[in-house]
Amino acid sequence: MCGIIARVGRDDAVETLLTGLENLEYRGYDSAGIAIKNGTGLKVRKCSGEVDALKTGLDESPTGSGTIGIGHTRWSTHGPPTDENAHPHTDTTGEIAVVHNGIIENYATLKTDLEARGHEFESETDTEVIPHLIDEYRQQTADIETAFRKAIADLEGSYAVAAIVDSDESGTGTSPDDEEAIYAARQGSPLVLGLGSEEWFLASDIPAFLEETNDVIYLEDGDVVVLEPEGYRITDLEGNAVTREMDTVDWDPEDAGKGEYDHYMRKEIHSQPTSLANTIEGRVTDGEIELAEFPAGTFADVDDVQFVACGTSYHAAMYGEWLLREADVRTAVHRASEYESSAGPIDERTLVVAVTQSGETADTLAAVRSANARGARTVAVTNVVGSTAARETDDALYIRAGPEIGVAATKTFSSQSVTLALLTQRIAADIPDAQPIDDLDAMLEALSDLPKQVETVVETSRAADLAERYLESRAFFFIGRGLGHAVALEGALKFKEITYEHAEGFTAGELKHGPLALVTEATPVFSVFTGGGDEAVQTNATEAQSRGAPIVTVAPEDHPAVESGDAHLSIPDTHPVWAGLLANVQLQLLSYHAANELGRPIDKPRNLAKSVTVE
Ligand code: F6R
Repeated sequence: MCGIIARVGRDDAVETLLTGLENLEYRGYDSAGIAIKNGTGLKVRKCSGEVDALKTGLDESPTGSGTIGIGHTRWSTHGPPTDENAHPHTDTTGEIAVVHNGIIENYATLKTDLEARGHEFESETDTEVIPHLIDEYRQQTADIETAFRKAIADLEGSYAVAAIVDSDESGTGTSPDDEEAIYAARQGSPLVLGLGSEEWFLASDIPAFLEETNDVIYLEDGDVVVLEPEGYRITDLEGNAVTREMDTVDWDPEDAGKGEYDHYMRKEIHSQPTSLANTIEGRVTDGEIELAEFPAGTFADVDDVQFVACGTSYHAAMYGEWLLREADVRTAVHRASEYESSAGPIDERTLVVAVTQSGETADTLAAVRSANARGARTVAVTNVVGSTAARETDDALYIRAGPEIGVAATKTFSSQSVTLALLTQRIAADIPDAQPIDDLDAMLEALSDLPKQVETVVETSRAADLAERYLESRAFFFIGRGLGHAVALEGALKFKEITYEHAEGFTAGELKHGPLALVTEATPVFSVFTGGGDEAVQTNATEAQSRGAPIVTVAPEDHPAVESGDAHLSIPDTHPVWAGLLANVQLQLLSYHAANELGRPIDKPRNLAKSVTVE
């Protein structure tokens, strides 16, 4: 939630900052702003609304060029999305500008104290205390870097902060203490350093600067960074030098843009053949699962496995749980936000698998920390290398889906589910009394066809016609059993998230225990057939149909349920473990087209953000 970017270079920073903010908008889009430092002082432009609104404002009132700047795109926590609450925030002198992602828990105390010392505040945000604190310490030390460190040391909570300071009172840009630097710090919120050629970046996530460089350093909690035109310095809060390894990410700069598509979501749905191929590559050889991270025997001492996740990742985790249960392993899936009360007894023989695309979801991280504290072994299944989840667990298994920008998770659900399917079989093979799935060979053989089959679904889908046909409906229901239940829940989540229409997912057998009362001819029921429990799903669909509901079967062409349904979304024949993923692609397209027909802002649904870093 909230995206920050900072850049020091030799040419103008404005365009780079704006492009970076556009690539970060998935983190929040309530308001946006930049601050640029040039020979005539610090120029701040900010407004409520999306980055487009900021650009329009800049056309009318440009900042002028400057080689050093910071930017922010916001998902509101403290104070509504107004111009005043937009970042960057400045101190009373207007010489210090700050962008921040996270929450300053002690801001009220700090603010009261600063107000008593004559600082005037303009916003309702927690962030605004930071520039005032830097200013307060600047008056005491006359050294900006020291002032920044002291200000950071006063903060409690989570933050990724970047600040620029213009103390050149002459306005000529030549004052000796008018340092050309950006000061930044990280504690509990993501911050990545990008190393370009003669330019340096800091950002909440790599897509912000992917068009400029693939060379990154993942900063860690407690790191303080100073970016200057000549280079960068990383230290701890006391100023001791810290060494961090550089990594080169293999993401394509095109991953950060929309390419030929109108929306990131559509692009990401269509890119699933490629992202899935990346997920699988090198992990199945000669019919054997090979996870380099987890050689055979790694899980021999595991008694039970808990999955923790939120939202779409929870639905992928249901996949993992289902597969482990089939393998006779004691397992449970937990909503991360409820983990504290639902976890039950755990010990060092418990494996806790945190499933999180971003690796930054606060609820999931809280569950990981709780599991770590209670002695469990922890694994993160995540998309983001160097993310907090990857660093705070014992091991990380990457889903390799590439950056996902659309707020609605699509390609990462597919890659998470496949990764978890492989991981669960590795676990089952290691645990003495467990049994990997009966027809593992057939499952793995079918997996190699999955990317191609997803391509077939994407190319031949009739989801657009169905979206149009049922657009006037009152509600949209999704049912399935077993793995199909996870898909039904995911189909409904996607639908409600981007269309704003009422959608619910049920295990098919539950319809008759209550929800059937809602069923009318205005409530299409999308029935997912995965090849497991299909007859029962068909019975439940027929119960809804006999009460007037149109039934849309999501099943192979020759499936017996297709004939009695009212409409059909076709999936290629495959192994039952993968059928749900193909059905899910159809449902992703259904949501996309329905939202498009309704004119919704598909990539930025209201009230949401992709990376939810608050509990
Ligand atoms: C829905 C969606 C969210 C996320 C959830 C967890 O399309 O994207 O439900 O799945 O916020 O996020 P991660 O996976 O980053 O932990």
